[in-house]
Amino acid sequence: MQAQQQKNDFYWQQVREAAAYVKDYIGVDGTDIAITTGTGLSESMVDMSPEAQIPYDRIPHFPASTVKSHAGRLIFGKIHGRRVFILQGRFHLYEGYSAPRVCFPVRLMQALGVKTLIVTNAAGGLCTDFSAGDIMAISDHINLTGENPLVGPNNEDWGIRFPDMSAVYDTGLMNCAMQAAQKSGIHLHKGVYAGLKGPSLETPAELRFLRQVGADAVGLSTVMEVIAAVHSRMRICGFSMITNIADPDQPEPASLEAIIQIAQNAAPVLGELLSGIVREA
Ligand code: HPA
Repeated sequence: MQAQQQKNDFYWQQVREAAAYVKDYIGVDGTDIAITTGTGLSESMVDMSPEAQIPYDRIPHFPASTVKSHAGRLIFGKIHGRRVFILQGRFHLYEGYSAPRVCFPVRLMQALGVKTLIVTNAAGGLCTDFSAGDIMAISDHINLTGENPLVGPNNEDWGIRFPDMSAVYDTGLMNCAMQAAQKSGIHLHKGVYAGLKGPSLETPAELRFLRQVGADAVGLSTVMEVIAAVHSRMRICGFSMITNIADPDQPEPASLEAIIQIAQNAAPVLGELLSGIVREA
């Protein structure tokens, strides 16, 4: 137990050191929005005027990105005059990172005073109404990873022991998203995201199961970070870029290349939506 406590204290110390480095690097306080970009979506922030870019490997204690489709840098800048952090690239359980390591970027944002987190990901569409290239606003999620970043001793300075999960995705931000989508002529679906550990993709029987338990999209990220963000008391909204249709009745092999290609093609539309939310939020 004592060893676990020490490990835990060490983690928070690392977060504080990373935050001190970033604060010093950018030289300004008061950034309250962060956006995490998922697979193939790094280039979605077209409206951003970057003021600083920090490669992840320069930030003390930051995990190293092992996935090629993830850029691996923290960008700081303004969108519609508001200060925003963009986390280009994230960490996944399937890379072998523990749940707290996956959440390190979110904890860094917490330490830097961020109050609103917008998460994006690439996902397979389970809902029969979806097509590849569509965007789904996440109304709720199902954590099927078998992991939770809050396991272990709780540090009350960073959040409470049993965070409420009854309203994870902020309805105000969802309304902003709907308004921004309407203004830009983007058709935005709403639905439930199921987060799995991966890295193997789903069998047809698993896809059928996911549909039956109420999932509309499936992916291998997001749920850990969102749980940490709830613990951090952030306002959260999330978007899944539907990169492929995961249909148990017509199973098709999903390739990472095709997923990245679809995500990259649709990234500017997502970017327009995100900048609309920053404007309205
Ligand atoms: N399954 C899991 N993760 C994904 C998928 C999928 O079909 N598409 C994009 N990310």
